[in-house]
Amino acid sequence: MAAPLRPPTGIPAQAYARRRRQLMRMAGEDAILVLPAAPERIRSRDTFFPYRQDSDLWYLTGFPEPEAVLVLVPGRRHGEALLFCRERDPEREGWDGPRAGPEGAVEAYGMDDAYPIDDLDEILPGLLEGRTRVYYHFGRDTEFDLKLIGWLNRVRAQVRLGAQPPHEFLELGHLLDEMRLFKSRDELRLMRHAARISVEAHAAAMRAARPGIREYELQAEVERVFRAAGAEPAYNSIVGAGANACVLHYRANRGQARDGDLVLIDAGAEYQGYAADITRTFPANGRFSKAQRELHELVDAARAAALEQARPGVPYEAGHHAAVRVLTEGLLRLGLLKGSLERNLASGDYKRYYRHKTGHWLGLDVHDVGDYRIDGQSRLLEPGMVFTIEPGLYIPAGDTSVPAKWRGIGIRIEDDVAITKDGHEVLTDGLARSADEIEAFMAAR
Ligand code: GLY
Ligand code: MN
Ligand code: MN
Repeated sequence: MAAPLRPPTGIPAQAYARRRRQLMRMAGEDAILVLPAAPERIRSRDTFFPYRQDSDLWYLTGFPEPEAVLVLVPGRRHGEALLFCRERDPEREGWDGPRAGPEGAVEAYGMDDAYPIDDLDEILPGLLEGRTRVYYHFGRDTEFDLKLIGWLNRVRAQVRLGAQPPHEFLELGHLLDEMRLFKSRDELRLMRHAARISVEAHAAAMRAARPGIREYELQAEVERVFRAAGAEPAYNSIVGAGANACVLHYRANRGQARDGDLVLIDAGAEYQGYAADITRTFPANGRFSKAQRELHELVDAARAAALEQARPGVPYEAGHHAAVRVLTEGLLRLGLLKGSLERNLASGDYKRYYRHKTGHWLGLDVHDVGDYRIDGQSRLLEPGMVFTIEPGLYIPAGDTSVPAKWRGIGIRIEDDVAITKDGHEVLTDGLARSADEIEAFMAAR
């Protein structure tokens, strides 16, 4: 077992304050920004899903509690950063754990001012009054949308008395998504840590694999390592043996790996809110068959081709195009596709076996925020962007148009990559990836 990973330092309080100031500068002095905490969600009758803070609120405050609303009021003399949150309550805290309370929101979270969440109704209309623009995520939380409309109507009802209601309503994501797309040094440190935990977790699963093992046993290995490192799954872990690997968002994880099956594991840790996202595909018995190896080497070549495009100034989509070209060439060479390369690329016939894109932004959300295209064109890569590279091939078990040896093979290889000043950093290196590396790793268990 490797030495325990030393946890990195978190995001310093000044960094949250800097983010809030930057966002307010972009929004302008006549704006107001409203960000509610994620609601708690019931899993069953009176028990809840584990609470996960809204990524935007987390990004701007690091505040972990539900029933909170951040209101940013640029230029407001009596304080710009306001948090409404639950009051201290010894009785409730005895059941649910400590709360910061408004005092803690100021002292520990650097708010300019804080109020009990129960006072939101009374105070918010007064904060909206006189502001022309409201930045908010419309449509994300219907219950909160209606409350906001109610507060606006309260200001509108006062117009004859001289009140000035806001009259522009803007999507908060226009400003905030762009900030979140570029990861700071502090954020990269946390993402590297989430990636390291995930690398160890996948290695643990490869060590545990054997014919006959259940998919959920491998899931347990992966998530044991996450939890032991103070992390949790960033998304539902996908563990698919045999043809289950062809189901892109397979979640049942109840199948059994037979001798000769490949196992696809797509799982990533979330550490202090930041996600990793790794996929490896390996043989349950430690040895690839010839057909499995041929497809695995093809997917790995596509991964390498996409990675070559990961540097500043290159269009984001170049990685996908490079991967698709390599996959299509390989499928033609192996006889899974027929005809010419250019015709197959133009017709998109390769999509029979490769239905998804080669990656996505990665950060506080596993499919992180940020535009992929600007003015109809793929945006260019810049330092600080982090994304996955995850080509795959999935040959349906029932595809009788190909020889039987290919049927039911599903393979994906997924790494996390940060763009640097002069190239890239692969955050998920250090985990067996190629067929040769995986066989060597599993033989040495
Ligand atoms: N785990 C989801 C994805 O790879 O995008
Ligand atoms: Mn992914
Ligand atoms: Mn994934």
